[in-house]
Formats: sequence, structure tokens, C-alpha cells
Amino acid sequence: MDKILIRGGHPLHGKVFVRGAKNAALPLMAAALLSETPCVLHNIPCLHDVFTLDKILSGMGMRIDFTGRSMNLDASDVACQEAPYDLVRRMRASFFVLGPLLGRFGKARVSLPGGCAIGTRPVDIHLTGLEALGASIAIEDGYVVASGRLKGADFTLDYPSVGATENLLMAACRAEGVTRLSNAAREPEIVDVAAFLNRMGAQISGAGTDLITVVGVDALGGAEHSVIPDRIETGTFLLAGVATHGDVTVQNAHADHLASFLKKLRETGAEIEVTGTHIRARAVNGFRSTDITTQPYPGFPTDLQAQTMAMLCVAEGASVIREMVFENRFMQVAELMRMGADIDLDGNTAVVRGVKALSGAPVMASDLRASAALVLAGLVAEKGETAVARVYHIDRGYERIEERLNALGADIQRVR
Ligand code: EPZ
Repeated sequence: MDKILIRGGHPLHGKVFVRGAKNAALPLMAAALLSETPCVLHNIPCLHDVFTLDKILSGMGMRIDFTGRSMNLDASDVACQEAPYDLVRRMRASFFVLGPLLGRFGKARVSLPGGCAIGTRPVDIHLTGLEALGASIAIEDGYVVASGRLKGADFTLDYPSVGATENLLMAACRAEGVTRLSNAAREPEIVDVAAFLNRMGAQISGAGTDLITVVGVDALGGAEHSVIPDRIETGTFLLAGVATHGDVTVQNAHADHLASFLKKLRETGAEIEVTGTHIRARAVNGFRSTDITTQPYPGFPTDLQAQTMAMLCVAEGASVIREMVFENRFMQVAELMRMGADIDLDGNTAVVRGVKALSGAPVMASDLRASAALVLAGLVAEKGETAVARVYHIDRGYERIEERLNALGADIQRVR
């Protein structure tokens, strides 16, 4: 079991290149299931979750060649429409294969993903949406067994679920007739998936708004596409620059995908400069508290809540953080308090009172973004050493994070 050891107190300086977005790459790989001829995806991040989905898709008969950051995906001979429990439970995003399998083959057997550290994460919106498109859905032995020729329909999502929007979008591409998804999620990753599907011959309009219209087509063909930059990784590195009173520039970033986050960061007094695809973050005069409420896009992203909390632990003043998207996404709080943070929890609200300094401690990662928050806290801690255990969580969403932070001047290493 690897650990990451950090001796904090060093301001980070320099440039870091942000990788392709995990939460776009995964649904894009699933979307390739819809194509009768080979596809190519570029700027794929080298992450555990990508390798897990590669295994699931290969198990279905998709031929995948992942070299460097490009991936060739050939789904022309996919013979099995099943996603097994032991792989789906490891990476819930594999539930995204349900929509494309159903849309193209008219049948699918996909394990229910189960919950995870941040919440029960039901899939009811995915399933009621597919039923609205004419699928018959049964739950057998922990699997979703779905079948039927899909027909276009109007469907309103109870909540703008990212995964449900993507599953329904992919299924609707092959439904007969027109589908209108209302109260759809608006994340940039959904716009990226829709762009890829349209290149494959789909007819989607409205992606990025809360009303997506899809005119079903008889078949989808191969296409080439490059994954958008990871806005959550971008935000994480910018926070590292500000929290350590450094000066960090993230290259290849999409500032317009982070408008709410950058607005909040500026409210703390951090200096943020956007020049094309470069975002520079400094905190020459320190930084203050601010209040945060996580919301579906374009609101403040829940995936940056824990990392921002780590920075606010040493801001001047008190911050109120409300987590509105997941029911249990404060797993980092107890660990941050072991490092000297002053945080009061009340349901989905955390009050963070800035302290002078954090101190290093052995801490435990519980989920992907909470582990990133603990690494940030370790970088900030002015004395002692922070040992973050269970770093496989962090490897799911960040490529070689310790090497890239090292290059920015952090005293950080991975030990087996
Ligand atoms: C995606 O998860 C992301 N994962 C998550 O990132 C991200 O936190 C989340 O969207 C919100 O932005 C991927 O894209 C692979 P949701 P997803 O469905 O699709 C409830 C990370 O760290 N809900 O938008 O699972 C659900 O319980 C990960 O990279 C239902 O009630 O998120 C949650 O409270 C973590 N019924 C809320 O909606 C449903 O059928 C948002 O979930 C579906 C969702």
C-alpha cells in the first residue's frame, strides 16, 4: 500500500500542464461502444479509472489500443453486453456503458454500481429515463437487466445528474424519433461527449443547456476527438499555489469551465490572471475566508469542495461551506482536524475557522477528492510530516501527482 509523505511550508512556484479530463474521458470511452467502426480519442489521462474502464470494455469484445495519450477503440465486434460486478463496483462510472449498450444492441446487463464513500449514489434517474425511452428494466442479482428497442421521448430529470444525462444522451442517439431531456446537467464534460457523438453521426443539440434534444439515427460511425482539459485538476493545482503562498501557472486550462471557482478564489484575495489557456494563481498578500455552496454546473463544483476547504483552513477568518450535491462529502474534515484545522460540522454545513498554521500528521484518504485535500493540507503544514495513506484513491483522478508537485518545489515523495 503506497503512502505519500509531505514536508510542507514550501511556497510552490512554476508551471504545470493539466491533463485530459477524467470525467470526460470515461463517458467518451463508453460512447465509443455506439460506433460500428473504429474511433480515436486523444489527450486521455493515464489514470486507474481509465485502465479499469478499458478492462470492462475489452471484456465486452471492444479492441482497445492505448498508447501514450491516444486510444484506438474498435467496437465493431462487441459480442457481450455485460459489465461485471467486480469491475463496476470498483469504478461506478462504468455504469455509463448501460445507455450505449441499450441504444446499439437493444439489451444490456450491467451491475448496479453500489454506493461509495461520498454517498449512496442511486441510479434511479438513469433507470426511469431509460424506461421513458421504452426500455424494460429489471433488477436481478444486483444487476440491471435492460432490453427493448428505444423510442424517442420527452423526459425531465428529477435532478441534473451528470451520469444520468450522459447515459440517456447516449441511449437516445439510437432511439427511433426525437428525445428531449429537460433539467439536464450542463457540465462541460457533457458538451464534450455530445461533440464526439455528433462527430460519430448523432444529431444532438442543446448540450450545455438544461434542454438537450436528440434526433435518433440508425447507426453511428467512427470519429476522432480530443478530450477537454480537466477543470478539477486545474483547480487543485491553482489552490496549491495560493494555499502555499506561491505562484503557480496552470497551462492548457479552460478558464471558462471554472468561472464560479475562479470567482470564489478571487474573493479570498488571491490574484488570478487568465491569459488564453494559462491561469496564474498567486497569494502575495495572503488570503481571506469566503463562503461556498456547491451546486451543479455552472455553480461551484462539488469536486473542488474538499480541496478548497484545505486552503480555507489557514485563511484569515471563518468560512461557511455547504455541500449540496452529495450527502456525505466531508470525509476530509476529521483528517484535517488531526492536522490542527478548526472545523465545526452540522449536517451538510461546515464552518471553517482559519488557523495560523497546520501541522503534519499521518492521515487517511477516503475518496478521490478528499485525498487531494489532504495532500494540499500537507503542503501547507508548516511543521512536521504528513503521511497520506491509501493513495490509490488519488491515483484514480490525478496522474503522478507527487512528481508534478515536486516539480513545483514541494517536498513530497511516494513510498511503497
Ligand atoms: C459525476 O458523478 C462525476 N463522476 C463526479 O465526480 C461528480 O462529483 C458528480 O458528477 C457531480 O458533478 C463522473 O463524471 C465519472 P450525479 P455522478 O449523478 O454522475 C444524485 C470525481 O471526484 N443522483 O450528478 O455519479 C446523487 O446521489 C467524481 O471525479 C440521484 O439521486 O453524479 C448525487 O447526490 C466524484 N439519482 C447527485 O445526484 C440518480 O439516478 C449528483 O450525482 C443519479 C444521481
